[in-house]
Amino acid sequence: VSVSAVLPAGGSGERLGGATPKQFCAVQGRPLVSYAVRAMERISWISDIIVVVSPENIETMKTIIEKYGHKRVTVVEGGITRHRSIFNGLKVFAEKQFSSHLFQKPEVVIIHDAVRPFVEEDILSKVVMAAKEHGAAGAIRPLVSTVVASAADGCLDHSLERARYRASEMPQAFLFDVIYEAYQQCTDYDLDYGTECLHLALKYCKTNAKLVEGTADLWKVTYKRDLYAAESIIKDNLS
Ligand code: C5P
Repeated sequence: VSVSAVLPAGGSGERLGGATPKQFCAVQGRPLVSYAVRAMERISWISDIIVVVSPENIETMKTIIEKYGHKRVTVVEGGITRHRSIFNGLKVFAEKQFSSHLFQKPEVVIIHDAVRPFVEEDILSKVVMAAKEHGAAGAIRPLVSTVVASAADGCLDHSLERARYRASEMPQAFLFDVIYEAYQQCTDYDLDYGTECLHLALKYCKTNAKLVEGTADLWKVTYKRDLYAAESIIKDNLS
């Protein structure tokens, strides 16, 4: 099975605070995005790695690729939402040619947030195999907190039974034709407010989406304290 990857890295990182988007913050001297790229590039069965960044960060990303010797990586301009960024990344494979480079359309495409640095081969191969069988697959984790819905007056409307629900994490994988079809069919509302690629595949392609238990280290670096946590994990791995 031919596999390529799209890494959305086009966010502004508002929740982190500070001027630098989190994916470009240095963790142990290396920009966060470079860890996820390196994790992908260490896996021989992943062909092309598309990193999607906002227009103002294209040069920064190219410099990172040069400095850290990343291979098989192409930088693509992102959109104003995560879905639009991912769609731009997928288009490179559908259109087969991008800035004079010829791309093979992969059978399966991995989508993985650039801000989840500790992705490993085990979970990547699990989601890829599950996507091949079911059409779509994604990593999940048990919920840390209970999910509640508030009513218009700000009081509790209802809460979900925690044990029955899971947090949807990354990586996810899809048959390329399934996810591309879903993005082509989906509405502007989906692209601007949709929260979930698995959901788009389900909604527009009626595929199954297999949920695969992931590890805690797949969490998304979101707040400043997550950068400290990432730094500690890297130090631990080095010692
Ligand atoms: O905002 P959130 O934490 O959900 O972002 C998840 C991933 O999507 C991040 O890697 C972020 O850079 C990326 N993203 C993107 N384009 C956007 C917004 C977010 O590629 N417009």
